Amino acid sequence: MQDQFHRQIDYLRISVTDRCNLRCKYCMPADGVQWMSHESILSFEEILRLMRISTQLGFRRFRITGGEPLVRKGILNFLQEGAQLPGVEDLMLTTNGMLLPEMAAELKAVGVQRVNISLDTMNQEHFADITRGGDVSRVIQGVFRSLEVGLDPVKINVVVVRGFNSDELPSFLDLARQYPLHVRFIELMPIGISSEHRADFVPIKEMKELLGIQEYVPKLAIRGGGPAEYFRPHGFKGSIGFISAMSRHFCDTCNRVRLTADGKLRPCLHSKHEVDLREALRNGNTDADILDLFAHAVWHKPVEHHMNDEALQGVRVMSQIGG
Ligand code: GTP
Ligand code: 5AD
Ligand code: SF4
Repeated sequence: MQDQFHRQIDYLRISVTDRCNLRCKYCMPADGVQWMSHESILSFEEILRLMRISTQLGFRRFRITGGEPLVRKGILNFLQEGAQLPGVEDLMLTTNGMLLPEMAAELKAVGVQRVNISLDTMNQEHFADITRGGDVSRVIQGVFRSLEVGLDPVKINVVVVRGFNSDELPSFLDLARQYPLHVRFIELMPIGISSEHRADFVPIKEMKELLGIQEYVPKLAIRGGGPAEYFRPHGFKGSIGFISAMSRHFCDTCNRVRLTADGKLRPCLHSKHEVDLREALRNGNTDADILDLFAHAVWHKPVEHHMNDEALQGVRVMSQIGG
């Protein structure tokens, strides 16, 4: 459906859990976050019901996020059912990759088409530091396993943070040069704990300088619904992309809304405004009632984000939204 600013909204990001098997410094506070209780998160049946309703509004693309979506019990069955729903054209996942070595083949088998994998550094010491203890070799193994089993495209998310990984960008070029991987460099958004890292923000313009590539033409179309701009330097099997959430925001072409694990529909990644679909689901509403609520939230999607305005910061950290 269209929102009031004539944007076509057909992409739903669904966070199935706020839990994660890593503790990235820009995503979660050192002392952790209070996990949502089991009763407060939507059951898979409830999520499937909302997916079904959303297809009646024209939603076609569904990205499953977390926390880390692969840690939730029963995820494969859920994905299989989701992939079979009429109207679901694209079902995909954003994951930290830790469980992909074992799960990539099953994901492909149940109908997931593609994965985006977070990988901010390939240096084990830095990885253990950023993620507070993770093992980068598992993620790298997960990336190659995903290629092997035919998930396509496989995209890599590199959130660039000064002094963290900003000196490692050229090593990611080698990945995209040698393999059909789409490596996206992402500007850090000041959401939740990340706002403490505002001083370490690296704009896309500077990332391009650090990469040392002279020409960023022509632009490439890679399958996806998101805001990344892609380029394929000469001789590369994959591509490199940039997500300029801050320096040149892309709100005028936004096509998405988000569902949090506790059943709140967020019309914008950043806005504090949420619509409580969980209560609607659990209070005996009909599909038609829920469809109305859903449509109302989409219609009132804000025109753009106000991430630079600290007064408008919500209370959720990124792991509770799903990116
Ligand atoms: P596809 O293009 O479909 O592959 O998905 P995507 O790139 O949008 O998804 P992914 O989950 O990999 O997100 C990549 C980065 O873009 C993350 O840093 C997200 O937080 C960010 N992002 C995704 N959607 C939005 C959005 O609507 N607004 C903003 N500002 N950032 C977004
Ligand atoms: N800014 C930009 N991207 C972020 N992600 C998590 N936190 C931020 C942030 N503050 C990314 C993760 C993951 C995706 C869902 O969002 O790296 O790849
Ligand atoms: Fe869309 Fe909000 Fe993201 Fe802007 S910040 S692109 S309006 S979800």
